[in-house]
Amino acid sequence: MIPAVAKATDAPYGKTCPGGFNDRTPETPDNQAHSISTGMTDTKRVLLIISGGIAAYKSLTLIRRLKERGIAVRCVLSVAATKFVTPLTVGALSGDKVYTDLFSLTDEQAMGHIRLSREADLVVVAPASADLLAKAANGLADDLASTILLATDKPVLVAPSMNVEMWEHPATQRNLATLAADGVRQVGPERGDLACGELGAGRVAEPDHILSSIEALLEDTSTSLRSVRTLVTSGPTQEPIDPVRYLGNYSSGKQGHAIAQALVSLGAEVTLVTGPTKEPDPPNARVIHIQTAEEMLAACLKTLPVDVAVCAAAVSDWRASVQANQKMKRSGNIQHIELVENPDILGRLSAAQLNRPTLVVGFAAETESVVENAKKKRLAKGCDWIIANDVSHETGVFGGTHNRVHVIDEAGVENWPSASKVTIAGRLAARIASEIAHKSIDA
Ligand code: CTP
Repeated sequence: MIPAVAKATDAPYGKTCPGGFNDRTPETPDNQAHSISTGMTDTKRVLLIISGGIAAYKSLTLIRRLKERGIAVRCVLSVAATKFVTPLTVGALSGDKVYTDLFSLTDEQAMGHIRLSREADLVVVAPASADLLAKAANGLADDLASTILLATDKPVLVAPSMNVEMWEHPATQRNLATLAADGVRQVGPERGDLACGELGAGRVAEPDHILSSIEALLEDTSTSLRSVRTLVTSGPTQEPIDPVRYLGNYSSGKQGHAIAQALVSLGAEVTLVTGPTKEPDPPNARVIHIQTAEEMLAACLKTLPVDVAVCAAAVSDWRASVQANQKMKRSGNIQHIELVENPDILGRLSAAQLNRPTLVVGFAAETESVVENAKKKRLAKGCDWIIANDVSHETGVFGGTHNRVHVIDEAGVENWPSASKVTIAGRLAARIASEIAHKSIDA
């Protein structure tokens, strides 16, 4: 057994240290600026379970990010995790005692595995190994981490991390489906180079992505979207001209996919209708892949009724009136291609007589007079909110990782600071959840 970490990192149980796990006092002006709590004086508390795997080092960044946001974090390390990160480092970063041992007499008397999770607002497993996910899915409790997961009455978020073969194995997918049915939320994994040298899905979500899911889950419980049906459009559409050419745009799908992921994190039922992108399908969303605007419209209409629709796709406004069956030849001396207008999907959803979603959110991609144009667009399209962004080439928004948006609704304009698309997605999901909660109270 690995002993609990040395006294130097202990925050004695029952004592309050500023910004610490047991601190429920008002925040300092310093961390108030970063805190996710809006007007609340409580410090939010995360119990972070770090399981074994090379990705355990990323949890160190996650701990720092949580602390920067004024969120208290207490850590539990599986025995395997201690081979990758030391309790001493984790304790120094979290500013709290680190727990590893299920049968530590002192811990059981003073804290107990049940109280460990009871004192948290959220339990996060990052990275979550295939082994720990399997234990949790089957209710096994033979070490501290798995015992907490069985004993907790708090929301649980897992960030899986493993080799691609393990990730794709039916047993892992079965376990995740079981956990999702039990209400466990998931963030990632992402595709990319894996530590084992292979390429594919299985890389733990980046700390900022995990942070965004945590922040969404830590918002007031009224912001939960459990069982709320949502539709998200994402990516570009491609309108064929001939068998090898199409009319398209530079949309990467990053923002739309991040919104779908953030809605899933809040418990929503998500259908993502997406044009061709390099973004991986968000786990636990129903994903419909389309190519053209007409296909996107058909998929959206088929998905109704939904409670919320978010149209983040960059839909091509036009398509070729005629698609050539064979490749058009240079020698054909083509003078022009005739274009016809595509259907306006956001406009159609907003104006639906039957099954109009309770909340319709559009995006406005502008290159000049951003807010003014977006205000007009909101009225013209009939949507409830419009998220305006400047997609001029120099902003790097199209295809980039960051965005700066203005949220426009009937009440006015909110100017959000520049942030990663993942962060913006998390904030938007929380705003949607809050709106839906108010609408159901009013109804
Ligand atoms: N949209 C849509 N169907 C279209 C065009 C746009 O659903 N055929 C949606 C987008 O998903 C976005 C909003 O409408 O939510 C605004 O898209 P944008 O490209 O900013 O505006 P357009 O409607 O294309 O108008 P314009 O190009 O004149 O700015």
